[in-house]
Amino acid sequence: MNRVYKEILNQLNLGVIVFDEHCQLLYVNHFIRDNHKQTVGLGQSLFTQFPELPEAWFRKRVESVIMFHNTSFTQWQYRPHLLNLMETRPITGTHELMYQNASLIYLGHYDARELICLVIQDATQTALTQMKLAKTLNKLNQEHKQLHTLNQQLKEAQSQLVQNEKMAAVGQLAAGVAHEINNPMSFIKSNIECLQHYTQRLVEMGHYLESLLQKQEDQQIIVSLMRQKEALDIEQIEEELPELINETLDGAKRIQDITGSLRDFSRLDSSEWQLADIHEGLESTLKIVNHEIKYTVNEIVKDFGKLPKIYCLPSQLNQVFLNLLVNASHAIDKDGKIIIETRFLEDSNQITIRITDNGAGIPKTILSKIFDPFFTTKEIGTGTGLGLSISYGIIQAHQGSIEVNSTIDQGTSFLITLPINPPISTSLSDQSL
Ligand SMILES: Nc1ncnc2c1ncn2[C@@H]1O[C@H](COP(=O)(O)OP(=O)(O)OP(=O)(O)O)[C@@H](O)[C@H]1O
Ligand SMILES: [Mg+2]
Repeated sequence: MNRVYKEILNQLNLGVIVFDEHCQLLYVNHFIRDNHKQTVGLGQSLFTQFPELPEAWFRKRVESVIMFHNTSFTQWQYRPHLLNLMETRPITGTHELMYQNASLIYLGHYDARELICLVIQDATQTALTQMKLAKTLNKLNQEHKQLHTLNQQLKEAQSQLVQNEKMAAVGQLAAGVAHEINNPMSFIKSNIECLQHYTQRLVEMGHYLESLLQKQEDQQIIVSLMRQKEALDIEQIEEELPELINETLDGAKRIQDITGSLRDFSRLDSSEWQLADIHEGLESTLKIVNHEIKYTVNEIVKDFGKLPKIYCLPSQLNQVFLNLLVNASHAIDKDGKIIIETRFLEDSNQITIRITDNGAGIPKTILSKIFDPFFTTKEIGTGTGLGLSISYGIIQAHQGSIEVNSTIDQGTSFLITLPINPPISTSLSDQSL
């Protein structure tokens, strides 16, 4: 019977090793002998026969199995190659180390010895399949992440396109209306100037006639003239006429100024890269935003350095200045001050434009999000959250950078750095505004 058991053990597709509480080797089946590199001799220590076996760890396990009379499992994931066994059925054709599931089983107390059995199961096929699966899953996850990023970029590009289209339409409309207003306005202004001269001459003529009449003997004519003068309130007219004409002329000039700025701002003629004066852009943008910011901003400090012209898309940069100035005014409650500084960095052939406000500041927690498309802290319907993301895109297209610095309750500062001659290789280069 003993032989039958041994035969069964040798035919098993499992490794079987029996040893005692001192880890002295008592039995090894064929599976172990056939697949282990070393020849195995009985009666010796397990750790001499299998030097790869981690001794401290293994002894601890053995002690616990003897103490609790139980079975302890070790999966291949934890110790893939407990023994240096070669795999039994290599799928790849090359012989590789076997991945093993191991069980330590307490056999009982025989002849004053505690007997323990180590059973090894070949888990190579499962392990290889699982590892391949894990690798594929990992790859899939990475591809998923890439797709997600691409999708995000696509969304951003789309929102930028929509905004640019909108700005192009608004810009065209503004420039068109400005042009239409400008034409009649120029003859209104020149007619008023003409009227100013004519009335002056008429008043002079009146004075002359009056002085002639004063010399008349006929008192009746003088009295009737004085009465008529009084009835028609000629003195008041004389007094108010220059003021009225001056005010009207002022208004006309202001309208011309605004329409001119509107045209400059949207610059239909400047949809292409060209050398432009940044200060002109800032001035025309300030005129455009003036009506929006004048209620909260008391003071605008223009600390302009000496700047060379830079190669850029002027109307797009105006759009950036507009976004920053409007944001600044929105952050200000009252007594606002906006400082606009420009500098030329000769060493690096760059210019900087810094726009600083003394508004509410931006909390640190949202500072990293303000350039994200659709990020806004304004009420629904007030802000789209696109201003800064569009501005970021425009500055990037100019190969420049935009940075923010903010302190709560003290204010915010945006610093734009632009190269004077950016290498043009960006999508905005073909764009028309
Ligand atoms: N100067 C500033 N001071 C304080 N907060 C600011 C300032 N500039 C921007 N922010 C914050 O950044 C957010 C995003 O600004 P962004 O210009 O992109 O969008 P928005 O102003 O909310 O909407 P819009 O699309 O109308 O410009 C704002 O909602 C605001 O919270
Ligand atoms: Mg904004």
